[in-house]
Formats: sequence, structure tokens, C-alpha cells
Amino acid sequence: MPGKVLLGVCGGIAVYKVVSVASGLRRQGIDVQVVMTEAATRLVAPLTFQTLTGNRVYTDIFTTEQPGGVPHITLAQEADLVVIAPATANVIGKLAAGLGDDLLTTVVLATKAPVVLFPAMNVNMFQNPVVQSNLDRLRSFGFEIVAPASGELACGQVGQGRLPEPEHVTSWIVDRLARRQDLAPLRFLITAGPTREHIDPVRFLSNPSSGRMGYALAAAAHHRGGNVTLVSGPTELPPPAGVKLINVTSARQMRDAVMEHLPESDVVIKAAAVADYRPAQVEAQKIKKSEHGETITLEMVRNPDILAEIGAQKGQRLLVGFAAETRNLMENAAAKLQAKHLDMIVANDVREAGSGFAVATNRVRILTNDGHCQELPLGPKEQVADWILDAVRKVWQSRND
Ligand code: PMT
Repeated sequence: MPGKVLLGVCGGIAVYKVVSVASGLRRQGIDVQVVMTEAATRLVAPLTFQTLTGNRVYTDIFTTEQPGGVPHITLAQEADLVVIAPATANVIGKLAAGLGDDLLTTVVLATKAPVVLFPAMNVNMFQNPVVQSNLDRLRSFGFEIVAPASGELACGQVGQGRLPEPEHVTSWIVDRLARRQDLAPLRFLITAGPTREHIDPVRFLSNPSSGRMGYALAAAAHHRGGNVTLVSGPTELPPPAGVKLINVTSARQMRDAVMEHLPESDVVIKAAAVADYRPAQVEAQKIKKSEHGETITLEMVRNPDILAEIGAQKGQRLLVGFAAETRNLMENAAAKLQAKHLDMIVANDVREAGSGFAVATNRVRILTNDGHCQELPLGPKEQVADWILDAVRKVWQSRND
């Protein structure tokens, strides 16, 4: 597994932790090439990284010390993974704008390798809408962003903005290297978000799904070499880079899009929160209070159960459902696993703090149809997505060995 990591180091106070990351990676046999910004060299001497990695440290785009090569192109081409830590607001802004005014930003522009950013800065800077919008923009281009940790910051304030501890960053990078291309050439069909069931042209029934869990799965499957089609209900999220996105509104539209793309899929993951019922009749005009009394009665009819329909004709596909429950989590999840002919179900207690709808984190249990249950800790949805995909890969491999 060991590979080649290009570690971009910027001028944030957390740079001292990155020194340990560089040595931790080297200890695992990973070849670490370090590129430092000018600001970073004011906080830690390049010689420190050079000694710990055993490699020359690059700081200058205009170097004449590399005969026979243009450093930003050579470094960009040789890396299996580019990691920027700490990623400051400045480098995030420059990358989001496509600037290349130093060695690190030109390497990032020139590389074809996945680029991972570990933002670390003051909490107000991190929450600044400009920084958040730059991060969204980078995500939409396929950059991977690892959320900073919360706690006491170097400036004395408390909040989100800390670089995670070096062991955590190191193991994240090691895992990421191990997962590169591990899902190629699988074809994924993933659903995300809520559905909207219209009552009249201006009103609908829906649920709080933000789409984050499904989008995280789609982005992770793509980053790991999968070919991904994402069928999404209405969300505020930017389209994930490299993924074929199909936007739908209602459960019936989602059903049609999923069934159309089912033939070209190996793995189906249904993270969408699909409405089980819809109004029997959609009014053509806005319903007026003046035309009704104090109460109004809606007659509802069943929507198609998309997952059950796929289960009945899944063939060799691996079928993963979700179960969003507020009680009897495991019993209900197990019943859905069986009734819908699933290979795996992700059980999600949506009443638990930090879990379920419209939050950045999730805690799930994965139940497979051989009765095995894996309990996972609370984690960012991006991390949970990788764990779910690890489970998918394991089942797929065991079937095809
Ligand atoms: O989008 P987020 O804000 O990130 O929130 C994530 C989530 C809570 C939506 C997600 O983690 C989750 O639990 N998704 C499943 C929600 C759901 O509808 O669960 P369910 O138990 O009602 O449905 C069981 C399964 O059948 C699901 O895979 C669902 O997609 C599928 N289903 C349900 C009804 C229906 N008519 N057709 C379906 O295919």
C-alpha cells in the first residue's frame, strides 16, 4: 500500500502538529515530499521536515536546483495524494480562485492526484461565509475537505478550527491511500435527499433530509474509483464533482430515475428519505382559506416502495438500504433487510443527538443479511460514508472471490 504523499504546509500555527504527521507517515513507509509556503517557513524551518522525511523540502517555484525538471510539474505528477495541512484561509481562497502564485498552488493546479485539505484557523475565520463558500466551491471541484476539530484554539477562543491531533491526521492519510481506487470499476447508483409531495402549486409534504449522507456516499465512492450516478431530491448542496447527478422532486420521479439507471449499476445505496404517501389529488391552483372551513382533510395514497421494487429484481447487484427509525431500531432495520431482499441495511436512530437528518454527523449500525451487525461510532458523514463503503467492498469481495 505505501505510496507517495505530497504534503503542502501553510503558515498556520498548527504547523507544529504537521511535523509529527510527516514523521508518522515516514514511519509507515510512505514517501513524503514536502512543499512549504513562504509563511510556513517562518514558523518551522524546512530543515525540520527535510530531516524527518529524508527528502529535500521545496519552497520556491523559481528554483534552479532541480536539473532536468520543472519542480511543480514533477511533484504534481509523482504524487498519489496531495494533502494540505494546515490549510489556511489564504490558501483555500487562492485555490478556490484558481490562483497559482507560489509552488504549492501551482502544484495543486497541475496535479491529477486527489487533493485533501485540512483547514485549521480561528473559529470566526472558519465560519466566515467567504471561507465556507470557498470550501463549498473546492468541494464542487472534487477537493476533499476534512472538517477541523472543535476545542481551544491557539488564539484562546474556543470553537471549531483546530487541526485534528497528528495521529488522527496520519491515520486518515494512511486510510485514504489504502482506499485509493479500491472501488474501481464498480458502478454505484445512490439516492439522497428528501422527496416533495405537492398538495397544490405552492405547498408540499416533505421531511428534513438535507441530502448530506447520500452526497457524502456519492463523493466518497467517486474518490475511491467508483463510477457514480446520484439521484437526488431537492437539496441545497453543490453537485459532487465527477458524479452524474439526476435531480428529481417526488417519490414517483425518484422511482422512475432509479429504475431507468438500475441496469447500469453494480451497487445500489438508498440513502434518500422517500415519502411513503402522497396526496391523492394535487390541486391545480393554490388552496384558498376562503374556500374551506377551519379544517381541511387530505386523502393520502401510497407511493411506490422503490427499494422493495429493486429488491424483487436485483439480480447480482448489491443492494443497500437505510432504516431511519425513532424506536426499535434494530428490529425494524432487520425486518426491512428481509422484507426488501437487501444485502445490507444502515440503521439510523434519527432521534439520537448528532445523528440522522440535517446534521453534519451520523452514528449508524450496519446489518448484513448473514446476521452480522457492525456498530460504528459517531463521526462526520464523510467518514461514515467511507465506513459504509468499506462494508460494501468487503461483501462485494467475499462474493466475487
Ligand atoms: O439527508 P441527511 O440530512 O444527511 O439525513 C440522512 C438520513 C437520515 C436521511 C439517512 O441517513 C437515512 O436514514 N435515510 C433513509 C431515510 C428513510 O426514508 O428511511 P425509511 O426507513 O423510511 O426507508 C427505508 C428504506 O427504504 C430507505 O433506504 C429508503 O430510501 C427506502 N424507501 C422508503 C420509502 C419508499 N417509498 N421507497 C424507498 O425506496
